[in-house]
Amino acid sequence: MVEIELRVGVVGAGVMGSGHVEYLSQDIPGVTVVGLAEPNEDLRNALLQRWNLSCPGFDSLEEMLDTVSLDGVVIASPDRFHAESIKLCLSRKIPALCEKPLAQSLDDGEELSQLAQKSLTEVGKPLIHLGFMRRFDPPLVEVKNIIGSGELGQVLYVNASTRNVSSPGIKSEELLTNIAIHEVDTMRWLLSDEWSDLTVLKGRPTSVAPDGLQDPIVLTGGTVNGVVIVADIFANNSYGYDVRCELTFERGVVRVGIWGDVTVVRDHQHPAHPPFALGENWMARFRQAYVNELVEWTETLRGKPSSDLATVEDGLRALQVLDWVSSES
Ligand SMILES: NC(=O)c1ccc[n+]([C@@H]2O[C@H](COP(=O)([O-])OP(=O)(O)OC[C@H]3O[C@@H](n4cnc5c(N)ncnc54)[C@H](O)[C@@H]3O)[C@@H](O)[C@H]2O)c1
Repeated sequence: MVEIELRVGVVGAGVMGSGHVEYLSQDIPGVTVVGLAEPNEDLRNALLQRWNLSCPGFDSLEEMLDTVSLDGVVIASPDRFHAESIKLCLSRKIPALCEKPLAQSLDDGEELSQLAQKSLTEVGKPLIHLGFMRRFDPPLVEVKNIIGSGELGQVLYVNASTRNVSSPGIKSEELLTNIAIHEVDTMRWLLSDEWSDLTVLKGRPTSVAPDGLQDPIVLTGGTVNGVVIVADIFANNSYGYDVRCELTFERGVVRVGIWGDVTVVRDHQHPAHPPFALGENWMARFRQAYVNELVEWTETLRGKPSSDLATVEDGLRALQVLDWVSSES
């Protein structure tokens, strides 16, 4: 069967947009990047040149939608533009994979959920998916399979860390909506469970962070099925990008280390693993997750529904959970 060549536009030429342009144009067959919307012309041209792409560049998503015909859009602009970009795609009935978060406020999230619901009724399939790519991370998929197998018993406790090296311009409340939101969605997906409560602990701010920023924060909470979760979130972490989690089961422990190395400790045995270097950001650690997510998303453009891609409802659920604590921030 001949694969339909997909025409995809990308919004944003920063860290994530650069990754998406690379993966779509170099890693995923059957996809052509036909437009790049990015207000910074130098960045835009440099990215197109890097991958030898001859497609046009635009200042905005709206201009790109007005000019080129697209099968789908990947949105990787800053968080504050997501809501308006999603509305625009919904109004034009263009499928989009939007980076997290769905929106920065619960009110915006609820409005988008209603609009997405309406378009689902009209179009018959979800038009918007969200870039919670940890759902496609092979090590985390392996952990989800271990949970599902029941071989170690039930999960009792999860301890996780997301520590970015730097997060220029981030505000205290955005440690929740920009970073912690990954943990909120990942735990729902990984444990097939729902959060039942969430509290945020605020300790001494690190001197590595700009003055006035509450960094780090620690999430403590639990799920409907009784799993206790503790997750620390750093926006500015001097020693290197560090994302990890450890799940304690009734009959063992499973750790996902900083390079996605999965260690299973059971039966009084702890496997050895070699030392490795830490990266500057998430791109190397999650490369395969981003590619797998885009493969799954492009398949939805060809008509194959996905049960793993995060939906607007997942994005809304994450905002609802974070809203339990954001009023205290
Ligand atoms: N899934 C993940 O692992 C992950 C990781 C990092 C960031 N993100 C998300 O990806 C998005 C982009 O993050 P980033 O790190 O690439 O940021 P970035 O600042 O590196 O890049 C954002 C780019 O968008 C451009 N831009 C600004 N306004 C725009 C607009 N209206 N339309 C189009 N482009 C616009 C900026 O000029 C900039 O080049 C954010 O929403 C962030 O939360 C997701």
